[in-house]
Amino acid sequence: MKKYVPPEIVEEIRIKTDIVEIISAYVSLKRQGKNYVGLCPFHLEDTPSFTVSPDKQIFYCFGCQKGGSVINFIMEQENLTLPEAAERLAEKAGIVIPAAPQTEIEVQRQSEKRRIYDMHELAADFFHANLLDSHIGKVARAYLDKREMTRDMIEDFHLGFAPDSWDSLKNYLLTQGFTEQDMEKAGLVNKSQKGTYYDRFRNRLMFPIWDFRGKVIAFGGRVMGNELPKYLNSSETLIFHKSQNLYGINLAASHIRRCDEAIIVEGYMDVIAAHQFGINNAVASLGTSLTPDQGRLLKRYSSNVLISYDADTAGAKAASRGLDILDNLGFRVRVLTLPNGLDPDEFLHRYNGKAWTQLVQNQAKSFLEYRLLTAVSKHNIKTIEGKADVVNDLLPDISRIKSQVEKDQYVKMIARHLEIPEESIYADLRRKTGYFQNVDNFNRGKHTNNTRFQMNEAKKENYKDAYHIAQKSICRLMIEDRENFDRVEKTLGLDFPDIPVLKDIMQFVKKIYADFDWAPSTLVERTDSIELRQSIAELLLEEVPGEDREKLLRDYIKTINLHKLKKRIEEIQTIIHDQEKKNLTNETITLLQEYTRLQQKVQQLKN
Ligand code: GTP
Ligand code: MN
Repeated sequence: MKKYVPPEIVEEIRIKTDIVEIISAYVSLKRQGKNYVGLCPFHLEDTPSFTVSPDKQIFYCFGCQKGGSVINFIMEQENLTLPEAAERLAEKAGIVIPAAPQTEIEVQRQSEKRRIYDMHELAADFFHANLLDSHIGKVARAYLDKREMTRDMIEDFHLGFAPDSWDSLKNYLLTQGFTEQDMEKAGLVNKSQKGTYYDRFRNRLMFPIWDFRGKVIAFGGRVMGNELPKYLNSSETLIFHKSQNLYGINLAASHIRRCDEAIIVEGYMDVIAAHQFGINNAVASLGTSLTPDQGRLLKRYSSNVLISYDADTAGAKAASRGLDILDNLGFRVRVLTLPNGLDPDEFLHRYNGKAWTQLVQNQAKSFLEYRLLTAVSKHNIKTIEGKADVVNDLLPDISRIKSQVEKDQYVKMIARHLEIPEESIYADLRRKTGYFQNVDNFNRGKHTNNTRFQMNEAKKENYKDAYHIAQKSICRLMIEDRENFDRVEKTLGLDFPDIPVLKDIMQFVKKIYADFDWAPSTLVERTDSIELRQSIAELLLEEVPGEDREKLLRDYIKTINLHKLKKRIEEIQTIIHDQEKKNLTNETITLLQEYTRLQQKVQQLKN
């Protein structure tokens, strides 16, 4: 049976799939700036021109021009059709593809999901009422008192208590019309070997876990003494995927947007303490190291992150892994290490919110600074070898920095710290990253003859001067951002390119984006034309030369307009020239007037 994969499922697969991880199973990839490069699996080569962009979730080979989304990659590599490739990736990502749209199974699944949501809502209220009950909740409330949690926080985070009983929640949900099988699917009861069902959470302080929409999707339960495990979390269910969620995101989201920074801490208690002390932009990754999904969730609200994990080595390791993931996703990351091995909850209760803010101001390290300190702590920098090792550890970080100003600053910092000349670091950098630099230059559009990565000749012909580069660059900015697209469509229309493939891309984008979202990977996936797909992938991997995209777009549009004017002026000149040979007519005078007007316009545009 031919499977149909609905677009929203394809979309979900793409969001939940890490293209770098998938392709890494086939190609050994090396990080280069924002991208990864490796030897192309589709043609024979001995210098890497195969590029993967985690940002845009696409791949492109500068050697053989193959490119596309992660789904296209699997199709090529495994010789599969789109639904087959989608299915394979869906399996990995834990996504179920409905056999057909709105089959009975799908309807059933939807209603199952709805029941699980409902049970969680009821369970959260049930636990909360228990905590507030003067008799049942006494010990738990005393525990929270001891930890100085305010009543407001108990309300805001809807904390609860699961009584020391095997069936209190089960019996409650039975009275609400749910079966034991329902409850098991929701992860709220366990099944014993004898086949009987019993409450999963017993004698625990309960933390409801919400998704970003504020729906309860799971629970964490903490013991109030020293028993183990300290925390029991819900298992994965139809509605709960631990690695895709952040604790507290529903409450923190608007604050993250407002202060344009998220704080990531480790635990439930850290998030709640942060909120209690007025730091409302805190979320927790819940004991695991941060995942790309969690990063993408945050990215909706801000591109700045402060990580404050426990100072123990486990915390530091988790922070370090999280850093890489966030850096990859284009976050500006800072790291805060708290003094005396305190975690954020302990620090805030011992000092206060003001002390926290001050500490962040004075002690938060930039990503690179943190990297330097970590590297320094690993080697003995009193020895020459130790210094060399530190520099070696840091080379990938240095070469990845885009801005030359930032790069210089960082090199200066390292040099000062290690008491070595800056020039030695630059020398190492040139030596070790020589061939990557070539990829970089290519991506920046500096296609010098001695780079090993040359566009094929026909394509090079296409982009021969400022006018043609402007066309390409406008298209590049348009497919990246809907606002740019709309703006250019209004000012220039979609016919402005005279390079055929760019014209085609514009028509295609217009058609596709009427129905789909703006993920660049959507574009490469939706075309059946291999040429179009490759050209789009190539375009998307083009580096944009500068930060201020508005200004760039303005400048490029100006270049196009200037070109049009100049072209018309040349036309007029030829006609007038021809006519002058015969004799002056009224037409010539009209043309001369137009000529003057156009010249004025050119002057205006140039100023
Ligand atoms: P307190 O000890 O009450 O301050 O909680 P905490 O949030 O500070 O806990 P901790 O720093 O030890 O751990 C951070 C997070 O890791 C917790 O909030 C949990 O999400 C998770 N975690 C800790 N211990 C366990 C455990 O035993 N099992 C599970 N599943 N998760 C745990
Ligand atoms: Mn703690």
